[in-house]
Amino acid sequence: MENFVSMKSLSKSELLHLIKRSDEVANGTSQQQNQTKPLFVANLFFEPSTRTKMSFEVAEKNLGMHVLDFHAETSSTLKGESVYDTAKTFESIGADALVIRHPEKGQVSHIAESINIPVINAGDGAGEHPTQSLLDLYTMYQEFGSFNDLDVLIVGDIAHSRVAKSNAYALQTLGANVYLSSKADWQDETLDFPYIDLDEGIKQCDVAMFLRIQLERHEKKESIESTDYLKRYGLTVERERKMRKHAIIMHPAPVNRDVEIASELVECKRSRIFKQMENGVYTRMAVLEACLKKEEPSYGTHY
Ligand code: CP
Repeated sequence: MENFVSMKSLSKSELLHLIKRSDEVANGTSQQQNQTKPLFVANLFFEPSTRTKMSFEVAEKNLGMHVLDFHAETSSTLKGESVYDTAKTFESIGADALVIRHPEKGQVSHIAESINIPVINAGDGAGEHPTQSLLDLYTMYQEFGSFNDLDVLIVGDIAHSRVAKSNAYALQTLGANVYLSSKADWQDETLDFPYIDLDEGIKQCDVAMFLRIQLERHEKKESIESTDYLKRYGLTVERERKMRKHAIIMHPAPVNRDVEIASELVECKRSRIFKQMENGVYTRMAVLEACLKKEEPSYGTHY
């Protein structure tokens, strides 16, 4: 795998290989590669992050890699250096791979096409967030063991969410049924999936994935505190009680408590929110390993 920038471009066997490899890493059955030369990885984050940046760093250190830490706010980007020239600089000084988060959709793919080392997309604006999606998929796989006919309801700020897009594409590839639920002005008509009423969807789904309201991408700034968003579009205790017995709650986090999900449900029995974060380390190890492998992985048909 040269780069990891989009879930839309991955086949079912490639997705299943990465999920299975994440499981081997999580269960300690992973065969680490013998690496003669130390590998250097740079985490270039041009947007805030806690989970993605830190779990990449843990994943890189678990794999014995050297992490070239980068802080946009103290870098030469303040002198006007472009993202491309920043990426090219890291390539020139010996980085073996780049992990990039950028606020502009398509910027990470653009860099991946222009440089000669693997690039991993850690979120590009409202575009895609493929490693978040992979950890979400792995969390569902742990729970249900299969994606065939799994009913996944994705709820919230669909239009501005890169997580919704990556998950919808990948879940469709894997054979799951994806339903979307959102207030009218946050629907994304470029996504060819059915929109359904939250109160109907919540009773039927196996997975209810709530999304953070992406205020930083909204043109019209509105205060989330002053709305009745939770009651109308969020997961209330009443809605949680209507979920199927085995159904789980997910959210990529950070969670706006009492806005997208009632605070007391964030760590309830059905919630996998902190499990998702733990799985982020395993799946990011699997992605780093796949991108930095010299030979192509042999994707079998045994899944
Ligand atoms: N889920 C996610 O991407 O979180 P961070 O923005 O904290 O990395």
